Amino acid sequence: MMLQCFSELQTMHAITDSLRKIIGLGYDKAWSMPSEFYTSSEFLALEKERLFRSQWVCVGRSHQVSQVGDYFTTELVGEPLIVVRTNDNQVKILSNVCRHRGSVVVKGSGNTTSFVCPYHAWSYHVDGRLRRAPLIEARADFDLARCRLPDFACEIWGGFIYVNLDNTALPLTPQLTGLSDLIKHYHMDNMVELHSEESIWETNWKCLTENFMEGYHLSTIHNKTLHQITPTRLCQHFPPGEGYFGYFANFPEKLEQRGLYHPDLTHAERQRSVMFAVPPSHVASVTGHIVTYLYLQPDTADTVKVKRGIAFSDSDILECDRQAAIDLFERTMAEDQTQLARLQIGLKSSSVETGPLAPADYEGNVWDFYHYLARKLL
Ligand code: FES
Ligand SMILES: [Fe+2]
Repeated sequence: MMLQCFSELQTMHAITDSLRKIIGLGYDKAWSMPSEFYTSSEFLALEKERLFRSQWVCVGRSHQVSQVGDYFTTELVGEPLIVVRTNDNQVKILSNVCRHRGSVVVKGSGNTTSFVCPYHAWSYHVDGRLRRAPLIEARADFDLARCRLPDFACEIWGGFIYVNLDNTALPLTPQLTGLSDLIKHYHMDNMVELHSEESIWETNWKCLTENFMEGYHLSTIHNKTLHQITPTRLCQHFPPGEGYFGYFANFPEKLEQRGLYHPDLTHAERQRSVMFAVPPSHVASVTGHIVTYLYLQPDTADTVKVKRGIAFSDSDILECDRQAAIDLFERTMAEDQTQLARLQIGLKSSSVETGPLAPADYEGNVWDFYHYLARKLL
């Protein structure tokens, strides 16, 4: 037992040491992290605490709760949540844990005027205030008016809803100023989600963040899908900000416009997708007609819950065009899923080594991600 604890401690030291060593190094010195970074359960526990509890984490799209009383439930690092639009037209994120004896209050999604716990029928207003506590209300030592479902810090940016579980993160939007300027003409907040999916992949959550955010593999793994649209050779890194990093996935000049584009878009903006990450675990690609996105939740060190979706600029899009966009997205996702399962097997081998990263335009975002993690974890 003591030996095991000692070796876990050594692993943690080795990982944090590797992160410390990269600070300040340029893209020309970029090198991959040791395999334990992607396989250690102890390191995952630290990430859950310092990233998924302490930073802004995407939980969905604001259109999912467009009317007063609309709600959906979700969970983040073991914390059951209700995302709801309250009577004052605000989106709130409530704890989905009953204040009586701790049952999960509601499941699924819908529209309601109150949340009723199934166990003993305590009921709550949609803003979390306790409404009824049957047979207990008369007790002198229990003040119904002071009892409520706690709520967590919530911010909406670009039509995405983010939560901060420990209520200590600095406001998100100012950290995304540079990115907001880059993508404002796409009007992403008006895009409507017409496809969503959820599955568990056999990979560490960071491998998937990195995979989505590097263009080095576009012309290999996605040779039959994305290579025609966003080939590796046209990728162009842009400088990261405090709360984001990303690159332009440029299109070949001859590629035709797909779908409805906002008139604000410049010629250059029509000719590319902006690939961006709002770390730790929200990655997206915005193009004139759609935004595709993943918001990841670590499961184990070797598995990740992949929530994903597509929102369209044209909510009346023809069914065949909608289906074509979904097919392309899901095919590329399947290609990544297969590759990342292979990667995770390799990362657990005793003979795995680290290696150099490609120039910034192709793998610079992996380096940006490491630096973000160094800032938040050390
Ligand atoms: S646990 Fe919810 S009403 Fe008892
Ligand atoms: Fe990919």
